[in-house]
Amino acid sequence: MVNYLSICYNENIMANTLLIYGSLTGNTEGVAHKIQEMSQARGKEIEVKNALDADLADLTGPYSSFIFASSTWDDGLPQADFADFIERVSASKPNLSGKKVAILGLGDSNYVHFCGATETIEQLFIGEMAGQKIIENLRIDGYPEMEENQTALKNWVDKLVELID
Ligand SMILES: Cc1cc2nc3c(=O)[nH]c(=O)nc-3n(C[C@H](O)[C@H](O)[C@H](O)COP(=O)(O)O)c2cc1C
Repeated sequence: MVNYLSICYNENIMANTLLIYGSLTGNTEGVAHKIQEMSQARGKEIEVKNALDADLADLTGPYSSFIFASSTWDDGLPQADFADFIERVSASKPNLSGKKVAILGLGDSNYVHFCGATETIEQLFIGEMAGQKIIENLRIDGYPEMEENQTALKNWVDKLVELID
């Protein structure tokens, strides 16, 4: 009985979507948790994981949708923890066909390679691993708290929650 109940409970709280983020100064981390809250308020659970703790098993597990979120540093590169995650999964290149993918970048358009990380992420998880791109990439320019960024984030999440399971 206890086992039966715990299985039911786990099924109820199991999220179908995993958001993996890389963040150096906390901006992407903050946005990741905001997305989780906004989505939860609309009835969709999203699990959030720091790229530091993410590995191949996260991609090959039961999730049907992924949100990959990274800031850009060092002339267009993904944030270091996200870059390390990419390195960990690149060797085996799991097939993500049938899995939904959304991509979020934080950056600053004063830099030449604005949100360059989104291009690297798209190339890998969609181009090479065959994930299904379900929504245009969101690129946050500057502080996430700025009104235009808040509006862009809200509009993006409104669309996203309709597309993920
Ligand atoms: C030294 C430095 C290099 C940066 N390089 C880029 C860049 O090449 N492209 C870009 O779009 N943003 C760049 N940024 C902006 C950061 O990506 C932006 O501040 C972001 O919000 C940081 O998010 P995080 O705290 O989640 O890491 C750079 C910022 C700094 C301080």
